[in-house]
Amino acid sequence: MPYKLLFVCLGNICRSPSAENITNYLIEKRNWGDRVICDSAGTSDYHIGRPPDPRMAIAAKEILDIDLLGKARQFDPADFEKFDLILAMDRENYDDILSLDRPGKYLDKVRLMCSFCRRYDIKDVPDPYYGGPQGFNRVIDILTDACEGLLDELEQEQKV
Ligand code: 4NP
Repeated sequence: MPYKLLFVCLGNICRSPSAENITNYLIEKRNWGDRVICDSAGTSDYHIGRPPDPRMAIAAKEILDIDLLGKARQFDPADFEKFDLILAMDRENYDDILSLDRPGKYLDKVRLMCSFCRRYDIKDVPDPYYGGPQGFNRVIDILTDACEGLLDELEQEQKV
C-alpha cells in the first residue's frame, strides 16, 4: 500500500499544489515508483476547480523546471481517514483543519510542513498571494527543503 500524503493550504492554488508537484518530482528522482502518493486541498472554497496560480507555475518552472498540475478542491473531513499524513502550510491552516476534528482523533496525522525543513528555521510557509515574484520563488525553495526532509524522514522511519 502506498503511503498517502495530503498537502493543505488556504486556496489550493499556490502553496499546496506546489508541495504536491515538488513531492512528485522528488519521488520520480528517487525512483520510488508508487511508494508514496500525494494530493492537495484548500481549507477554503475560494478557488474550487481552478488550476494553480500562474505566478506560482512560473516560479516552479523557472526554479525546478516542473509543471504544476491539478485543480483546486476543498479539504473534506473524509480526508482524515483517506490519508496517512496531512501537511498544513501554516498555523492557520493547521487550526482550520483540526477545527474539523473536535475529538482530536486525527491529531497525530496533522503536521506543520515547515517542521520538516532543514535549511529554514520557520514555522509557516508564507502566503505569497498578495506579494511579488520573490515571494513565489521563496515558497518553491522552502517547499523543496521541506519536501526533501519529509521524504527522508518517511524513509528513515520505514514508512515507505
Ligand atoms: P494558497 O494561496 O493558500 O497558497 O493557495 C492563496 C490563494 C488564494 C488566496 C489566499 C492565499 N485568496 O485570498 O484568495
